Amino acid sequence: MSSIDIDNPSSPHSVQEVTVVDTKQAAFQVYPVVPTPLLTPTHTPERGLSEEANAMTGKRIFTLEKPDDRARELAAKLTLEEQISLLAGADFWRSMAIPDKGVPSIKTTDGPNGARGEFFTNGTPAALFPCGISMASTWNVDLIEQVGQHLGDETKARGANVLLAPTICMHRSPLGGRNFESYSEDPYLSGKLAASYVRGVQSKGVAATIKHFVGNEQETHRQAYSAVITERPLREIYLKPFEIAVREASPWALMSAYNMVNGIHADEYEHTLKDILRGEWGWEGAIISDWTGTYATAPSIKAGVDVEMPGPSKWRQPAQIMEALDKGEITHEDIEKSAGNVLYLVDRTKGLSNQSPEPAEKPNDNEATRNLILQVGIEGLTLLKNENNVLPIRNAKKVAVIGPNVKRAIAAGGGSAGVNPYYTTTPWGGIRSRFDGELTFAIGCDSAKWLPLATPYCTAPDGQQGVRLEYYHGDRFKGEPAVVQHKVSTDLWLWDSAPKDVLPDFSFKVMTTIIPKSTGNHTFSFASVGPGRLFLDGELFIDIWNWTEEGEAMFSASEDVLKSIHLQEGKAIELLVESTNEVRPASKVSILGRRHDYGGCRIGYQEEDQVDRLQEAVNAAKEADVAVLVIGLDAEWESEGYDRQTMDLPKNGSQDRLIEAVLAANPRTVVVNQSGTPVSMPWVHRAPAILQAWYQGQEAGNALADVLFGNQSPSGKLPTTFPVRLEDNPAYHNWPGENLKTVYGEGIYIGYRHYERAKITPLFPFGHGLTYTTFAYGTPTVTNTVLSESEGVTVTVPITNTGEMAAHETVQAYVKDVKSSLPRPEKELQAFAKVLLQPGETKNVMLNLNKYSIGYFDTSLGQTGAWIAEEGVFDVLLGASSADIREKVSFEVKESFQWTF
Ligand code: BGC
Repeated sequence: MSSIDIDNPSSPHSVQEVTVVDTKQAAFQVYPVVPTPLLTPTHTPERGLSEEANAMTGKRIFTLEKPDDRARELAAKLTLEEQISLLAGADFWRSMAIPDKGVPSIKTTDGPNGARGEFFTNGTPAALFPCGISMASTWNVDLIEQVGQHLGDETKARGANVLLAPTICMHRSPLGGRNFESYSEDPYLSGKLAASYVRGVQSKGVAATIKHFVGNEQETHRQAYSAVITERPLREIYLKPFEIAVREASPWALMSAYNMVNGIHADEYEHTLKDILRGEWGWEGAIISDWTGTYATAPSIKAGVDVEMPGPSKWRQPAQIMEALDKGEITHEDIEKSAGNVLYLVDRTKGLSNQSPEPAEKPNDNEATRNLILQVGIEGLTLLKNENNVLPIRNAKKVAVIGPNVKRAIAAGGGSAGVNPYYTTTPWGGIRSRFDGELTFAIGCDSAKWLPLATPYCTAPDGQQGVRLEYYHGDRFKGEPAVVQHKVSTDLWLWDSAPKDVLPDFSFKVMTTIIPKSTGNHTFSFASVGPGRLFLDGELFIDIWNWTEEGEAMFSASEDVLKSIHLQEGKAIELLVESTNEVRPASKVSILGRRHDYGGCRIGYQEEDQVDRLQEAVNAAKEADVAVLVIGLDAEWESEGYDRQTMDLPKNGSQDRLIEAVLAANPRTVVVNQSGTPVSMPWVHRAPAILQAWYQGQEAGNALADVLFGNQSPSGKLPTTFPVRLEDNPAYHNWPGENLKTVYGEGIYIGYRHYERAKITPLFPFGHGLTYTTFAYGTPTVTNTVLSESEGVTVTVPITNTGEMAAHETVQAYVKDVKSSLPRPEKELQAFAKVLLQPGETKNVMLNLNKYSIGYFDTSLGQTGAWIAEEGVFDVLLGASSADIREKVSFEVKESFQWTF
């Protein structure tokens, strides 16, 4: 809407500029300390009032009245064919244009921690932000809003209008493959962060897409399992983050999930989409299916999914829709409504009649974004343990930096959240740039899930580093190559990047020369999506032309096949791969209903290790004043497409053995764990200092070093409980389900709600995180002692920095319903605020509570259930974590009341 008005001042729409906000980013210093103001209640736009930013003036514009009227009017004027055309994507990322009516196409891009642009591999360089759980660990809603603003700009730099983010599904099990991408086990924290993120993105005229609606808490069988969720946990836990984001930030788009909910595909589930989202919440944005997450023609249109993605359509071709219409399975009104929703999204982002061509993708690497990413990284680093002031590292002359992740940039989890970052930083590089003393390194062990990519050893036939990729028309490498590309990496997943003119069926060859760096028994690995063969010096070496065993790479590839060969240092060997995009295993052809798919392959290579890595690490640790161990997972262990199999550090105990050995060698050892989910820590009692470092994007190495050396205090707090054992977690008995059904048997008792109720002491509790100072909590006060439907309460608590260093504290307010008709969790997070305090400084922290802070969902009320606040006393428990409650105040509800939204 706004962009139309900006582009065309004579627009018939009445636009009122009611306030002016400077959207320019504050410039950060090199090692910035960003003060976090006392958090005020979140701005709640009134229903029907949409707030947008004028790209040219930086002013905010509020468009009054029914802002979608024009889109709806246009939808009504389109022919039926034109309306139908809007109901599916034009290609992998774009909506359909209607040139005759001047309607442009808009472009979408993934994803939560960056705006990748068109290509999964080797795409346009992009800013890589910390992953979702790392952002969530900051508990800093202002900072996350800034992240959203920068991602809005990044999206525009990729020529896109819609960012497919944020991911706000819940952390149900520590094994969730996409937990790293989403925020928390707590719906309130997730919802508040999502609302900030969405506000930031949309302030730039770019649509945010909250996803995946709903019940997509696991990756195992993600397109087939049914999440069996009863109504109360559905409302109180799984829908809650979406509800908060809708109420507080009005996202312009939403993505339906791959899975089923209660036996019905999420994109066909009228209960959540129609009754709740569109009905109770009155939300009027556009619903986009997940990519290939539409399963039939009529039901998803009926339920209100507006666009099937990606295009070209599988289920919504004109003939299919006409047939559904003829059979009475859908009505013309359904089609027009969806067409109107799509046009409304076009109107809000690009502009309904904006004829400017789609801008080419370009990078937008700048100082302000770099500094923001660094600051988000620093604030997300979560100090789990720090005995004997091992941290920050002071007065050390020699530091040993040990572990498999030291010299690798472990910056993101795997899957569609991946981007090609502007640059990356490693722990080694970050520490080197911030420490003047002596540094030593030892890798300690191998933790790789798959063999490392062959990339660094590859020289293409034209002499460039990388490989030559030749595409041929058809399945049999006939004639001359139709397209030739140069690729840097041997991760050659061609999901969205095979040239259009060789589709739908093509074959391809990969050619490169490998020059071994040592003599030995070296190993190659090969996985391919379709049939594949790998030749070395013209001899067939690995043959998986008719593979049947599925692996985990590239969503649908074969298992990784490994084979060793004796090679000599410096003696070049020619590598050739032949592959096609035919469906494998061949038995899937009848299930998928097509013979060709996306194609691609991954080539790994590792040289034989001839050194005792563990002993090397022990020696390095012994000789140093401090040892910093950087261990954990990476984007292969943690990814979209599959879940983790165990909570243990990989692989086969190698990292646990390394940690034990280094701890025994040097008592001043800091364990830095990089992962997006909890890991078991059998050595926890022997480690004096543990820092949870998540995946922190392009500034990961620098953020880590700043915290290790005390340039800033860490301030992360766990958004998810770390259990002692996998068996302790609430989803343990129902994960990942059986016969494609996953019963959410723990009900509302997810995360700390379960550990507290079952009295299971976790390894580290929800909300936990230390820093380099201490805080005293003063006596809290409460504005009024009664909370009613129309009037909330504000709790104020003075917090004092009683230590020596400036640091942030996040004050958490948990509400306990002292007596309720239905069982409720011990307590639930309902407000939080983050403050920066100088040594000796005191600030009053204010926490606002309202009816949403105390209600629960009772299915026995009315016809379909309702939210209820019951009369009685509520305690507000104020603390530094869910297990470190410092103060308590209470208020009362005089008379029970109910509501719907
Ligand atoms: C993911 C979505 C993503 C889409 C497009 C899907 O596999 O589930 O989150 O936005 O792909 O890449």
